[in-house]
Amino acid sequence: MPSNRSSRLPGFFNLPLEQRLAKVVEVGDLNLEAQAALHGESGLTLEQADHMIENAIGLFSLPLGVAVNFIVNQREVLVPMVIEEPSVVAGASHMAKLARAGGGFTARTTEPEMIAQIQILDVPDLEAASQQLLRHKQELLAKADLVDQAINRLGGGARDLEIRPLHDTPVGTMLVVHLIYDTRDAMGANVVNSVAESLAPTIESLTGGRVHLRILSNLADHRLAHASCRIPAKELAFGQFSGDQVRDGIIEAWAFAVADPYRAATHNKGIMNGVDAVLIATGNDWRAVEAGAHAYAARDGSYTSLSRWWVTKQGDLEGTLEMPLAVGTVGGATRVHPTAKACLKLMGVSSARELAEIVVSVGLAQNLAALRALATEGIQRGHMKLHARQVAIAAGAHGVLIEHVARQLIAEGVMILERAQEMVRRWNEE
Ligand code: MEV
Repeated sequence: MPSNRSSRLPGFFNLPLEQRLAKVVEVGDLNLEAQAALHGESGLTLEQADHMIENAIGLFSLPLGVAVNFIVNQREVLVPMVIEEPSVVAGASHMAKLARAGGGFTARTTEPEMIAQIQILDVPDLEAASQQLLRHKQELLAKADLVDQAINRLGGGARDLEIRPLHDTPVGTMLVVHLIYDTRDAMGANVVNSVAESLAPTIESLTGGRVHLRILSNLADHRLAHASCRIPAKELAFGQFSGDQVRDGIIEAWAFAVADPYRAATHNKGIMNGVDAVLIATGNDWRAVEAGAHAYAARDGSYTSLSRWWVTKQGDLEGTLEMPLAVGTVGGATRVHPTAKACLKLMGVSSARELAEIVVSVGLAQNLAALRALATEGIQRGHMKLHARQVAIAAGAHGVLIEHVARQLIAEGVMILERAQEMVRRWNEE
């Protein structure tokens, strides 16, 4: 979106869907093609789907929402999110609004370096093989650079070589080579896998071993994204809860996730609600990021929270999130899928690193939304309204009847499909 536009759109939530789209198109300065793609009129075609996967038989739809209020690295951004779960888009938008009071989100990323893993078995002498590989490091890096000249021209390519002997595996010792490769704006799975495959014969002759697997690692810990935000305590106050109470409740909730893997799994799932929604909207491989995130959360030997929250000297709440984020803005579905292309356009990102900086900020916002709700009124209250609407729709309600049935279900404290169907039947009979 143009730099002079704001992502702060008061009342956006209450607009009808068509007017929301019009607003996003206006603020994002999008053309008709992007508008149609966001609206679902001209998304992925059957023909494109048929070329994307095997045995394609059709398409599968999900809601596309837009989170408002985000400022990331001082840039206003409207964030597209694809998700079926209620409260996620609202939660991110609300927390982004609170974060604005502290200047929004500050995010940074490391270079977009991926790891190609090469497994070597039956190595006669691990130490000698390791030395030999290190002696030939430049030759191996040069060979890796031959795989994709286009990435080389863009400033990417092979960066480093690491050797990791693994003792005591179920099949004995093995040597693992990590070839570190900068994939620039691509997620890079294809090029990294090709690099791993291309180096195999040279590695076999240098080590005297047998190369087995040649594949990227999803624990992309050379490709990290980091976001932080500060929320003035007074912004956290609502209802009967004071700002200090909410702030301290959030830190107590976070401490639970730090200490307990059972809680950490749910806590990190909340982060991934935001992360995955943007990844899906932009055609990125969210399974790769999920795998990397959870492995990174267990990097010190026990699974823990990916985020951190604390109180500043001024009494404000501050938080950070750091995780591997292997995302691309070129290649794969990002290039083919019309809606993914429109979503990237809406955010106005010019590189994969910039996209990762937005994604990690949304993850942090989502974590804050969950902890704030859990530490105060619980999450069911917020969920209930949207859940009730879903039950009403499932029961066959349309138009104004959806709201009527949803309100009735909440008032009665029941979320039963049969009850909603009965309400729809009665309404139709009246
Ligand atoms: C639900 O999708 C996500 C939460 O469970 C996250 C959390 O517990 O932190 C609300």
